[in-house]
Amino acid sequence: MNAEQQPLKITETALRDAHQSLLATRMRTEDMLPIASKIDQVGYYSSEMWGGATFDSCLRFLNENPWDRVRKLRNKMPNTKFQMLLRGQNCVGYRHYADDIVERFVKHSVDVGIDIFRIFDALNDFRNIEVAMKTAQKYGGIVEGTISYTVSPVHNVELYIAMAKRLEEMGSDILCIKDMAGLLTPSVTRTLISEIKKTVKIPIHLHTHATTGLVGMNLQCAIDAGVDIIDTAISSLAMGTSQFATECVVASLKGQPRDTGLDMSLLAEIAEYFAEVREHYSEFESDFKGVDVKILDSQIPGGMISNMENQLREQNALDKLDEVLKEVPRVRKDMGLPPLVTPTSQIVGSQATLNVLTGERYKIITKETRECVLGKYGKLPAPIDPDLLLKVSDGEEIIECRPADLLEPEWEKVVEECGSSITSDDDRLSYALFPKVAMSYFAQRDSGAAMPVAARPAEVKKAAPAAPAPVASSPARGGNYTVTVNGKPYSVEVVPAGSVAVQSSAPAPVAAPAPAAAPAAPAPGGSAKATLTAPLPGSIFSIKCSVGDVVNEGDALIIMEAMKMETEVTAHVGGTVGALLVKEGDKVQTGDELVTIN
Ligand code: CO
Repeated sequence: MNAEQQPLKITETALRDAHQSLLATRMRTEDMLPIASKIDQVGYYSSEMWGGATFDSCLRFLNENPWDRVRKLRNKMPNTKFQMLLRGQNCVGYRHYADDIVERFVKHSVDVGIDIFRIFDALNDFRNIEVAMKTAQKYGGIVEGTISYTVSPVHNVELYIAMAKRLEEMGSDILCIKDMAGLLTPSVTRTLISEIKKTVKIPIHLHTHATTGLVGMNLQCAIDAGVDIIDTAISSLAMGTSQFATECVVASLKGQPRDTGLDMSLLAEIAEYFAEVREHYSEFESDFKGVDVKILDSQIPGGMISNMENQLREQNALDKLDEVLKEVPRVRKDMGLPPLVTPTSQIVGSQATLNVLTGERYKIITKETRECVLGKYGKLPAPIDPDLLLKVSDGEEIIECRPADLLEPEWEKVVEECGSSITSDDDRLSYALFPKVAMSYFAQRDSGAAMPVAARPAEVKKAAPAAPAPVASSPARGGNYTVTVNGKPYSVEVVPAGSVAVQSSAPAPVAAPAPAAAPAAPAPGGSAKATLTAPLPGSIFSIKCSVGDVVNEGDALIIMEAMKMETEVTAHVGGTVGALLVKEGDKVQTGDELVTIN
């Protein structure tokens, strides 16, 4: 039987990409477990159920240990291979980690129950996936070496064939073509799959999204060209920015040579279950639900559109979405045409958002944009725009080596920082990837309380508009917010001096966080010569100056975190630091006062 006659294998994405794309990655383990054994009976090739943004989301939003999700599902699903998405040297985070962290992360993932590792690098710089690939195989994992598919003047079928060959030489068990934004067209799909089939012997797994509406035609072409495995999502979590519907593929191949053999009545039960679950997450639904061929230009991957909407909503700028979508391809071109997938989608997307919100392109450049341009994420596919390069380089040279070669081992430092109270591999690895987020999760878990409302900015939606903070106002801002904790809305009044009062209409299972220490008062006598204010909404990540420091114009005084990116706030005048009006972890709005300079 030749490849074209083999049954088509199906990977179900309901537990990972489908809700990452449609519901901002918010599905809880408790909503997966009741249906898990049914999914296990279907006979899928694999269940994609971990990695990508789920790890971050468990810690940041769901108050869950991400590792426990794998164990709990494994317990209910002994027969189905578990598949995760791994961002090469970034693991499931947003920066490059040292090799010792990558090795420990991958080994622990095998230990808790992951079978298949889909490993990609956002730039297709395969030096960045080598360590993860080798480690996964060393401990018995199956490796899908992955091509991040994109369209640009420098990307073509010949290049992708060469990449496929390289990934096979590197030892991939399976070759994955990852079309994260749904940019494939039927004719390209046919050519790509049949040409790669001629070139490599390993099975080909196609991952694509329904965003641009071409997906059904693309999959038909892939199936005809002999693709071995495809990703689909159960119908109630399919289409839109997610995958094509599982049942549609199963039905269309029924009685044909490539019949999947999957049981439609089982699939119907699973679909019904998730239809109900999805309703509980309606607040995270993207406004985008249909078909958008404009994505063929903006190339924003499925999971990113809903996150970008959330970000803009946080900044009270949802009306700027169209403008941002237009700015994305321009920033991408300036930055050397990276494929847009985490973390480059975040980096390019956040930079584009800043370019629009500040009204001036590259007025603020995030640390991540700077590092990406300087080669710290790997080799970019095309040259950088010379003006942008000049703006970010500041005398620094572009690095040519594998970025992780510049990193010192990190594990010992992690163990030390975790101390004697955080000793499990689960927690240490969570800390290694997301130190601040993990610490706040541990504290929460240990106190037995629910999540602190202030630590969940993405879930804060304004109920009543707070007055925009005038520049001369008190540093703390007031206003009424609706905050969602464990899926339940609470009305919260934020009062000056950083304390938070919870006024829940329902009996609140939430202990109000202890009032934060009031920020230092400005120097008496009003001697401040100038006050540095927040250029955008976000949180204070770290403070780089102390009272009494002599600073020059342009010195970085505060690092803010906004849209998961770090942004330096620099002194707009020289002088002496008079007062710090914020502390680490504070949330600020545009125009809030940060530091006085005398
Ligand atoms: Co995807």
